Amino acid sequence: MAERHGMYIGGRYVGGKDYFDDTDPATGDVIARFPLGSAKDVGMAVDAARDSLRSWSQTPPPARGRILYRIAELLRKDKDRLSRVLSTEMGKVLPEASGDVQEAIDIFEYMAGEGRRLYGHTTTSELRDKFAMTIRIPVGVVGLITPWNFPIAIPAWKIAPALICGNTVVIKPSSDTPLCVYELMRIIEKAGVPEGVVNMVSGQASVVGEAIVRHPHIEGLSFTGSKTTGEWIIKNAGFKKVGMELGGKNPILVMDDADLELAVDGIIWGAFGTTGQRCTAASRVIAQKGIKEKLLAALIKRTKKLRLGKGTDPKTDVGPLINKAALEKTESYVKIGKDEGARLACGGKRLAGPGFFHEPTILDRVDPDMRIAREEIFGPVLSIIEAGSLDEMIDIANGTEYGLSSSIYTRDINMAFKAIERIQAGITYINASTIGAETHLPFGGVKGTGHTREAGIHGIDEFSDIKTVYIDHSGKLQRAQIDVDD
Ligand code: UN1
Repeated sequence: MAERHGMYIGGRYVGGKDYFDDTDPATGDVIARFPLGSAKDVGMAVDAARDSLRSWSQTPPPARGRILYRIAELLRKDKDRLSRVLSTEMGKVLPEASGDVQEAIDIFEYMAGEGRRLYGHTTTSELRDKFAMTIRIPVGVVGLITPWNFPIAIPAWKIAPALICGNTVVIKPSSDTPLCVYELMRIIEKAGVPEGVVNMVSGQASVVGEAIVRHPHIEGLSFTGSKTTGEWIIKNAGFKKVGMELGGKNPILVMDDADLELAVDGIIWGAFGTTGQRCTAASRVIAQKGIKEKLLAALIKRTKKLRLGKGTDPKTDVGPLINKAALEKTESYVKIGKDEGARLACGGKRLAGPGFFHEPTILDRVDPDMRIAREEIFGPVLSIIEAGSLDEMIDIANGTEYGLSSSIYTRDINMAFKAIERIQAGITYINASTIGAETHLPFGGVKGTGHTREAGIHGIDEFSDIKTVYIDHSGKLQRAQIDVDD
């Protein structure tokens, strides 16, 4: 019988009435069981977060930063074990799992340093003997709703800036990966984060997620996940400060003059790394006419060599999909693509169980209007679109409702700059794949991806409000716009 774990509320591990199974997607084995939290549990977590808000927000930021450094240190010490837990629970291969843990270490270190900055502005005043500045203030209790595809990194991207800015937290982990967030809670506790400052409530999105979104004492919300859920959150969150990152349909443009092998490496990594389950995954290749057939042949050759298997097996290149629904979704999109008239170039089949495996798949002769070219699949399916000029390729790149990541392979600096300027996306890579964000740079999108920036210095904006401060040291009433020197 798999071990039961608790939720983390007010510094205590709390059980539930009912539990759900946390399974290994490669085998279907139950690896842990977590409580199906209730709206009441969310209420308790919010109370704990409110109770600790004053003392945490008044702790000097450099002291908060020292605790964040300790979290980074503990993650580093435990990196190998955590990577195995992550690979088993989520399915990604071990090197990627350890990258996920490393991303968490990086963001805690980065945000710890912010404790000695958290800059505002000082500026001039239009009046004499008057001083003006901005300072950063915490948002309050923030609710974090996190996905399973980066089960340690994404919670860390949100928790680290939330804490350094002086907020307290209620987090709901994805029900596919609660164990990773539970492990993070243990480390947060061990690092000396005071009780009640970070709370975790596990359970269903329709119960726990909804209670967080609607809770009147949660002031800020940060969500990474699907566009449909994002739309629901926007409608139901009231006046909360909401941040969201809602996926992508990320294109790689390959120009005739591109370094072919480099492009192939980048496309394979972008499309099939993490089994295509990244918001930043390369799901469309827009290839220029002159290079297209050569590129496709090279991609097929490489794709056929990819070995499917359990993420913890060192021989594996591509792990399983996260669950049955994800497998069925991938399968259905391959069918949709074929029905729409695309040509199956390789892959296309699921594997017999156990586990949720689907072959890395390439669909050729994809038309930009087809559903497979516009909708997020979140699986190992790559669409190849042929086009003539850079302008046409950019128009195709911009022809979806998303705008997260993008890439162009070319040796021509002028084309590269045109792509930087014209592609509608929060991230553009030149001669590199669509994945590989670093934590000290902002991460986020435009259009239907949402416009939030996480990580980097802009990640601070999501978890703080700006207060404007005027200090009049003239000793008399001075009226702005009226008593000004002409
Ligand atoms: C995501 O897919 O939600 O750049 C995040 C990358 C990773 C982050 C992806 N560092 O692909």
